[in-house]
Amino acid sequence: MAAAAHTLSLHNVSKHYGALAAVDDVSLTIERGQFLTLLGPSGSGKTTLLMAIAGFVEPSAGEIRVDDRPITHLPPERRNFGMVFQGYALFPHLSVADNVAFPLTVRKRPAEEKARKVQAALDLVQLGELADRLPRQLSGGQQQRVALARALVFEPDILLLDEPLSALDKKLRAGLQWELRALHRRVGTTFIYVTHDQEEALSMSDEIAIIRLGKIVQKGKPRELYDRPVSHFIADFLGESNFIAAEVAGRDGDGFAYRAGSVSFRQAGALPQDKQVLIALRPTKICVTQAEPADGANRLAGAIANWSYRGNEFHFLVRTAIGDMNVSQPTWRAQVESAEGQAVWLSWDADASVVVRDDR
Ligand SMILES: Nc1ncnc2c1ncn2[C@@H]1O[C@H](COP(=O)(O)OP(=O)(O)O)[C@@H](O)[C@H]1O
Ligand SMILES: [Mg+2]
Repeated sequence: MAAAAHTLSLHNVSKHYGALAAVDDVSLTIERGQFLTLLGPSGSGKTTLLMAIAGFVEPSAGEIRVDDRPITHLPPERRNFGMVFQGYALFPHLSVADNVAFPLTVRKRPAEEKARKVQAALDLVQLGELADRLPRQLSGGQQQRVALARALVFEPDILLLDEPLSALDKKLRAGLQWELRALHRRVGTTFIYVTHDQEEALSMSDEIAIIRLGKIVQKGKPRELYDRPVSHFIADFLGESNFIAAEVAGRDGDGFAYRAGSVSFRQAGALPQDKQVLIALRPTKICVTQAEPADGANRLAGAIANWSYRGNEFHFLVRTAIGDMNVSQPTWRAQVESAEGQAVWLSWDADASVVVRDDR
């Protein structure tokens, strides 16, 4: 089922509700065939933005284009975009096959074409065997797959998905994340996926756009965003981070030196213009040892204030001269006896941390 794909672009799109900018001056290009995720906390404007793309919400300002063609004021049914919502919204009295056929029925397609496309769409989501069942005879995960098949059956140019897995339990959700990813590769259609779940966004997307208060605050590949968050908000929202409020001391080799309290550290990268900077450091990028680490790395003495065992990792809260630090160590690599009060050393490389904008 190879659908035609197009480049979608948003140009300074805003949506105001009274004084509230639910979407605030968003510009975004989504290349054909991409899996782009809009990730942000509840109320950040994800649904409003997706509805503007779908045509159900009229932007207060800005333009939406498919390739070079403006579609800002085109009604939804003329955009040829598929949609999947959080609720499955299946017709309870229609069989699985008739539910999937619905968009083709509306488009008055001939019976032969309908039967063929419904079968192909059901095979795509691996529900070919269940065509005659009613929605209530299916599990939540199967119902969501029917909704997917229904959204894909008319070969949409773009598929829009608004938190489609959030009603499912954790295990089922993980399975469907794999399936959606594989489905995306099979059909090659552009997917625009909305979620507030950062792990979901990291594991599924080609690109993630992080949205806060109606604005896109950073866009990039999952790994770029995780390793190089530009602000406190992003470092904190996408995974966990320790934050070190620091004073720049000056150039040092390829990087610069900074001080926090009376301790000196090194950071890779360009010398910041500001004297006061905020450094973000992932708990997984810190090494905990009992022996004092060799020269070269950043070193910080501390004592274990709290710890927990989480199966595949140990989590430590370490009290230090510059504040409490969260540290995660894979169980197989943990070198420290987990005991409260235990004196330890923390160490990390100069390129393990990043300078972030302080937008707290
Ligand atoms: N029809 C509406 N009228 C007034 N305010 C709205 C409307 N739709 C959304 N909002 C507001 O816009 C903001 C963004 O909402 P929404 O796009 O649903 O966020 P998200 O999907 O990220 O949770 C929220 O503050 C919400 O209350
Ligand atoms: Mg929403």
